[in-house]
Amino acid sequence: MRSGSRPLKISGVPTLTATNLTKRYREVVAVDGLTFALEPGSIIGFLGPNGAGKTTTLRLLLGLAEPTSGTALVFGRPYRMLEDPCRRVGAVLESGDFDPGRSGRNHLRALALAAKVGFDRVEELLALVELSDAAARPVRTYSLGMRRRLGLAGALLGDPDLLVLDEPANGLDPAGVHWLRGFLQRFAGTGRTVLLSSHVLAEVAQTVDSVLILSRGRLIAERRIDELPDPARALEALYLELTA
Ligand SMILES: Nc1ncnc2c1ncn2[C@@H]1O[C@H](COP(=O)(O)OP(=O)(O)OP(=O)(O)O)[C@@H](O)[C@H]1O
Ligand SMILES: [Mg+2]
Repeated sequence: MRSGSRPLKISGVPTLTATNLTKRYREVVAVDGLTFALEPGSIIGFLGPNGAGKTTTLRLLLGLAEPTSGTALVFGRPYRMLEDPCRRVGAVLESGDFDPGRSGRNHLRALALAAKVGFDRVEELLALVELSDAAARPVRTYSLGMRRRLGLAGALLGDPDLLVLDEPANGLDPAGVHWLRGFLQRFAGTGRTVLLSSHVLAEVAQTVDSVLILSRGRLIAERRIDELPDPARALEALYLELTA
């Protein structure tokens, strides 16, 4: 996939803050009193075992679920109060939410119309994620990795300041993972922020600036990667010790 150069964007407001964020589903406490703030210009990895509450937290941050208590703010406001949300936040939570009969290009064009973004941006993003040649094919013929890349293109339509990605490397081949890492690092290098969840600790250790580790809905550790002596090994050891 191709790289793109971007102008520096810095916002004075904290990118994302969760304060005592809690979500219950009947007897399950999916997210339990989470408090954290994200630094602009960094990539933050959200880690934790299956069912730890990562996706639920991302949904709360994006206004896709209501907190039982506590607050989730994006650029100082609840997501739904953002004036131009797709220019502030791009998100990919799962790979399955495409109309399977629609082409990749038409999927992005529909999003572009809703977001008042020109179709030239659609072509630019198709090229960026290397889907130009497949753009006319129905999404049902796409591989998992192609769907992930189409999802990422959709998240980037509004040239947002914050990217929220749930397991973005899942389904990408090694070249795709390598590209994604470089892309996210360049993106954050322009003062923007990335929050991504992942289970692939070795990849996370190479990509992110800091990690938040969740277990049973609670934040159990927050670390900067540059504080860890041998990041890939140290991160795995820390994760296994804390989530055992
Ligand atoms: N809509 C829902 N209704 C009921 N329970 C839910 C709902 N969504 C999530 N949960 C529960 O909340 C908990 C946290 O789920 P969540 O999907 O946030 O975990 P996760 O950390 O993303 O896990 P994974 O690594 O498997 O993606 C789980 O116990 C899950 O069963
Ligand atoms: Mg999840």
